[in-house]
Amino acid sequence: MPKRKRILTGDRPTGRLHIGHYVGSLISRVAMQDEYEQYILIADIQALTDNADNPDKVSSNVLEVAMDNLAAGIDSTKSTFVVQSMVSEIAELTVLFLNLVTVARLERNPTVKDEMRQKGYGSNVPAGFLTYPVSQAADILVFRADTVPAGDDQKPMVEQTNEIGTKFNNTYGDVFSYVTHVASITPRLPGIDGNTKMSKSLNNGIYLADTSETIRDKVMRMYTDPAHIHVDGPGNVEGNTVFAYLDVFDTNKEEVEELKTLYRRGGLGDVEIKIRLIHVLEKVLAPIRERREALNKNDVREIVHEGTLKAQKEATATMTAVREAMGINYF
Ligand code: TRP
Repeated sequence: MPKRKRILTGDRPTGRLHIGHYVGSLISRVAMQDEYEQYILIADIQALTDNADNPDKVSSNVLEVAMDNLAAGIDSTKSTFVVQSMVSEIAELTVLFLNLVTVARLERNPTVKDEMRQKGYGSNVPAGFLTYPVSQAADILVFRADTVPAGDDQKPMVEQTNEIGTKFNNTYGDVFSYVTHVASITPRLPGIDGNTKMSKSLNNGIYLADTSETIRDKVMRMYTDPAHIHVDGPGNVEGNTVFAYLDVFDTNKEEVEELKTLYRRGGLGDVEIKIRLIHVLEKVLAPIRERREALNKNDVREIVHEGTLKAQKEATATMTAVREAMGINYF
């Protein structure tokens, strides 16, 4: 049997996962775990690059993120969880890679540039933050991943990974293979306030661990069409968060199209479409919530520990090849 291709995906553990993560990556992780050898990295070191003053926020979410993945349907006998900080080879490889990339190149990484602007770092950017793409290259290459499925924002990371891998090979000899980025196809789910991004800091997310009451409240507060004041008046479907969610989660596409027609024409109230969405979300989220509640934290810790031990062996083998290629294998 041919060797299965290896996938590496990851999350920064800065909070629990929300339904944006679910449609953007968890569904495809669950689908891919049969065909691929999948590593799921819990990137606590990367999370610390902009949370150095708040390590509790990161450490307290490591197991939570693993639980969200398991609740969504990740099977620990098929996928391997890895805690980034427990694989010291990643840090070792990062230091060696840092010599192969310029500061100017790091400053051109569009994703880092965006994040730096958002965080208002200016020239006071932590060096660890500016260089996290190098650490991410080490994540990807130390485990010899073939493919990184992730959002568009991660494409520059994979490009930089390949630049670093190529530079390494040309300088010291062939160790690393080319890595492909596969962009997720689902549209980004807006926050409940209509903001294009669902995020913890904007407090506009629906979380996999939310209760049915919380989901109900959040949907009822959801942004629709601010000009749609009377049920009888025509409403906008475009930019309407409730319809954006129905498009993603409602399996009865025909009825959704009929509702859109009615909403545009006038005569369909916001409350009615919201109640439909509450039911649709509950159907998706109830089984996830139940699986999550059935998880035992100590068992999850054990799963994550086992996975990390397995991954460490891979990382050790890669570092042996790296040291050999560089001639720094003294004893
Ligand atoms: N940068 C990713 C994010 O913000 C997380 C991540 C860290 C990652 N290392 C990775 C993703 C390696 C894929 C592969 O979501």
